[in-house]
Amino acid sequence: MKLSHSFAVLIIAWFAGLGYIQAVTFEVKDGNSTCIKAEISASFSITYNTSSNSTSTVEVSLPDSAAVDTDSSSCGADSSMPWLVAVFGPGHALGLSFSTNGSLYSVANVTLQYNLSDTSIFPEANSSDVVTVVSSSVGIWATINTTYHCVSPTTIALGGAAVTFSSMRLEAYMPGNDLSPTESVCLADQASTTAPPTPAMTTTSATPTTTPPAPTPPGKPEQGTYSVSNSNGTVCLLAQMGLQLNVSFFSPSQNKTIQELVNLSPNLTSSSGSCGASSAMLVLTQERSTTLNFTFTLNTTSSRYHLSGITLLANWSDVAAPFSASNSSLDYLRGALGRSYMCSAEQTLVVVPTFSLHTFRLQVQPFQVSTDQFAAADECQVDQDQMLIPIIVGAALAGLVLIVLIAYLIGRKRSHAGYQTI
Ligand SMILES: *[C@@H]1O[C@H](CO)[C@@H](O)[C@H](O)[C@H]1NC(C)=O
Ligand SMILES: *[C@@H]1O[C@H](CO)[C@@H](O)[C@H](O)[C@H]1NC(C)=O
Ligand SMILES: *[C@@H]1O[C@H](CO)[C@@H](O)[C@H](O)[C@H]1NC(C)=O
Ligand SMILES: *[C@@H]1O[C@H](CO)[C@@H](O)[C@H](O)[C@H]1NC(C)=O
Ligand SMILES: *[C@@H]1O[C@H](CO)[C@@H](O)[C@H](O)[C@H]1NC(C)=O
Ligand SMILES: *[C@@H]1O[C@H](CO)[C@@H](O)[C@H](O)[C@H]1NC(C)=O
Ligand SMILES: *[C@@H]1O[C@H](CO)[C@@H](O)[C@H](O)[C@H]1NC(C)=O
Ligand SMILES: *[C@@H]1O[C@H](CO)[C@@H](O)[C@H](O)[C@H]1NC(C)=O
Ligand SMILES: *[C@@H]1O[C@H](CO)[C@@H](O)[C@H](O)[C@H]1NC(C)=O
Ligand SMILES: *[C@@H]1O[C@H](CO)[C@@H](O)[C@H](O)[C@H]1NC(C)=O
Ligand SMILES: *[C@@H]1O[C@H](CO)[C@@H](O)[C@H](O)[C@H]1NC(C)=O
Ligand SMILES: *[C@@H]1O[C@H](CO)[C@@H](O)[C@H](O)[C@H]1NC(C)=O
Repeated sequence: MKLSHSFAVLIIAWFAGLGYIQAVTFEVKDGNSTCIKAEISASFSITYNTSSNSTSTVEVSLPDSAAVDTDSSSCGADSSMPWLVAVFGPGHALGLSFSTNGSLYSVANVTLQYNLSDTSIFPEANSSDVVTVVSSSVGIWATINTTYHCVSPTTIALGGAAVTFSSMRLEAYMPGNDLSPTESVCLADQASTTAPPTPAMTTTSATPTTTPPAPTPPGKPEQGTYSVSNSNGTVCLLAQMGLQLNVSFFSPSQNKTIQELVNLSPNLTSSSGSCGASSAMLVLTQERSTTLNFTFTLNTTSSRYHLSGITLLANWSDVAAPFSASNSSLDYLRGALGRSYMCSAEQTLVVVPTFSLHTFRLQVQPFQVSTDQFAAADECQVDQDQMLIPIIVGAALAGLVLIVLIAYLIGRKRSHAGYQTI
């Protein structure tokens, strides 16, 4: 008992090191009856202005310490909708407001409030404001008297920020004080080929939900083509690349840390994201199990952009819990504004010690896409070096041919001269 306990603590400590996102449970009550209950894992990607006249993007996850704000939260009255507000840190908050039409209920909007004075999260912020961003059209809905359940990550854009929910279970307008045993499984989970063919509703049981196996095939990944469109349907970010994840994680079945290479399959991967003036985001989601988030930042002073952040959320079968790995101070894929960045050779982008990304035949353009096509490319050094090799070899061969020719001509002249003397 003691051993298994310390073992569990070890796993938790290990995942805490990786940045594993914990599900936090919230409850909103009206007197003795519960109207909203939610188990949420969430991570936030927030872009803010810094004092050096540029922008920074940070990745934050909803901490364990988040708690319901009982003053703002409410079960709703005649004129107001039910509202769950979770607060954390010095003045940060996540709000979900609900609405219903009698047969379905849905999340009407998601609100994120963040306090830029919190220098532990927002170093160098040039303002100390408390910023509030709201998103409508959330796409989280379920039949009334059932629990909404979604393992797949769901990303919602709110202004310069984005919220990614994963492993979410919630209910509003609850008939009892506990989550209803009947579940409405989200479309993303239903679409998964590995999920049992569930009708829209299944019954909960004590057994943990099975997650799809980690897609395994190594070898070179296929090149995928991805894009992001802005609100009026214009393509604003273009990417073409083969991607391979190199992840080290603890495998409970093997009772050890293993390293795995996982390719993203373009035909199972969908893309979304957002485009801003100085920050652009590409979110790739493979089935319900893998979400990879790229943040590109533009330095307006130098008119150059770079890949500044990568976040991975993965929920594979042989992992004790969904994990995330994130780094928002990267400096890869540097290109000039108005041009694309290209690297045909394999590149390794180290994100954290336990996760790196291998890219193959890559071309991206995160800003100023004008015609649905890549602009002229800035090529990576490796490609330029590889271009040099045939040139050097060619030059060397040409030199050799020249030397042989000269030697032959000199030799012929000499031997010719030799004949004349006879
Ligand atoms: C809540 O429950 C307690 C005991 O179960 C009861 O005494 C109290 O009246 C209830 N309050 C409301 C508002 O129903
Ligand atoms: C950064 O500053 C610009 C210009 O003042 C402003 O439009 C923008 O909203 C700011 N961004 C954030 C995230 O505060
Ligand atoms: C913060 O930075 C933005 C853009 O870099 C600028 O427009 C804004 O005026 C700055 N705000 C303050 C309070 O300095
Ligand atoms: C900040 O950037 C803007 C536009 O890029 C520029 O006009 C302004 O002079 C810069 N301010 C400072 C203090 O560098
Ligand atoms: C979001 O929901 C809250 C709570 O219902 C509401 O007060 C607020 O006006 C809503 N915001 C928008 C933009 O719809
Ligand atoms: C924002 O953070 C600062 C410093 O941590 C704190 O003094 C302030 O009260 C916070 N604002 C709110 C609205 O909580
Ligand atoms: C509630 O909305 C759904 C989807 O928009 C619709 O199919 C359903 O008929 C509506 N129910 C009622 C009672 O209006
Ligand atoms: C939901 O459950 C409550 C209590 O069990 C019941 O009164 C209500 O009619 C149910 N609503 C629907 C739409 O089934
Ligand atoms: C809509 O598209 C045009 C180009 O077709 C672009 O200039 C404009 O900024 C876009 N508007 C928005 C809101 O993205
Ligand atoms: C896992 O391995 C460790 C040592 O490597 C061992 O002490 C422990 O008993 C193993 N746990 C299980 C559940 O097999
Ligand atoms: C995806 O592509 C691979 C290789 O081209 C193929 O084997 C696989 O069947 C495809 N899967 C789907 C769902 O189309
Ligand atoms: C932007 O570019 C300028 C000029 O190259 C550089 O001095 C500055 O440090 C850069 N800003 C950031 C945030 O990297």
